[in-house]
Amino acid sequence: MSRLESFRRRLTAQIDGINWAIEKTTEIQGDILEMGLGNGRTYDHLREYADRRVWVIDRILQCHPSCVPPTKDFLQGEAEDMLTRLAEGGYKMALAHYDFGHGVKELDVEEGKALSPLIKAVMAPNGLVVSQQPMVGLTEISGPDTIMPGRYHFYQNG
Ligand SMILES: C[S@@+](CC[C@H](N)C(=O)[O-])C[C@H]1O[C@@H](n2cnc3c(N)ncnc32)[C@H](O)[C@@H]1O
Repeated sequence: MSRLESFRRRLTAQIDGINWAIEKTTEIQGDILEMGLGNGRTYDHLREYADRRVWVIDRILQCHPSCVPPTKDFLQGEAEDMLTRLAEGGYKMALAHYDFGHGVKELDVEEGKALSPLIKAVMAPNGLVVSQQPMVGLTEISGPDTIMPGRYHFYQNG
């Protein structure tokens, strides 16, 4: 598979996975958390299609100018510190999307696992995590049929 095809599969998985999770969490109270603002594409999708507050964590603000989050929702800093801040504030997420990464598979998997307990701590009961990387300590569930198993990861808190 070419890198271009792999990129297309990633985008399709993100769109289908996020749409599926928005639909599944309509009855759950809470906010949304985007982990990894990057260019702002998935953040923009979440704020477009989910009628909730969308928090965003990233160590840097370098997104497309049309995707700059409101200051009150943007937590600029290291994931560990920002997740801790959210937990201390008592905020709960109905849906979280995890898209942190360096592009080095082993490091990215390790980071996802290390951050899992902090992510779990900010999830509402039965809230869903849609993730680029495997998580631990959350219940793995099947995502939409359009996504190949293992391409994206889906978890429920509970
Ligand atoms: C793959 S990009 C996110 C892409 C984005 N979701 C989009 O659709 O454009 C990953 C982002 O995560 C951020 N990041 C990675 N690890 C982080 C960490 N430990 N703490 C804070 N930000 C981190 C990087 O700065 C980068 O902007």
